Amino acid sequence: MKKSIHLEYEVIQKENFSAEEQKLYLAASEIRKKAYAKYSHFAVGCALLMEDGNIVVGNNQENAAFPSGTCAERSAIFWAKSNFPNLKVLSIFIIGGPEDDSKSVITSPCGACRQSLLQYEIEQNQNISLYFSSYDGNAIKVNSIQHLLPFSFDGSEL
Ligand code: THU
Repeated sequence: MKKSIHLEYEVIQKENFSAEEQKLYLAASEIRKKAYAKYSHFAVGCALLMEDGNIVVGNNQENAAFPSGTCAERSAIFWAKSNFPNLKVLSIFIIGGPEDDSKSVITSPCGACRQSLLQYEIEQNQNISLYFSSYDGNAIKVNSIQHLLPFSFDGSEL
């Protein structure tokens, strides 16, 4: 029996961002400038909108022992959930690309980040909107982390 999974996503340009999207885009852009991407020179910034209206940000932090570094998404979500464990995350905005902005690339979250983000979406029992974007604001939006991780390992197997 063949089955298929349908994925819906939206393509949005900076000019069409809502006020809230614009705010998240700017927060992710600002924190991206502080990324520690000494080895890849690929800078990523991430901004989370919390349910109380606060924005939590993070960026990638690399390490000479490469696997010891951390992506922007995990820097941001782990900080948010360490400090505000009971606050839901409403949306997440990610911006990535070469740190000198020499190329405009839409940067989608890596597999490990998808898994980490999904954990909190399941835990809070409410979808998180996820935007991923180039530095100059070409963005893709999905309405749930689930959409980026079909057949996920969600803990129900344990
Ligand atoms: N990176 C992120 O911060 N987020 C992603 O989802 C993709 C990759 C970082 C990790 C590493 O510091 C650099 O980008 C190049 O892979």
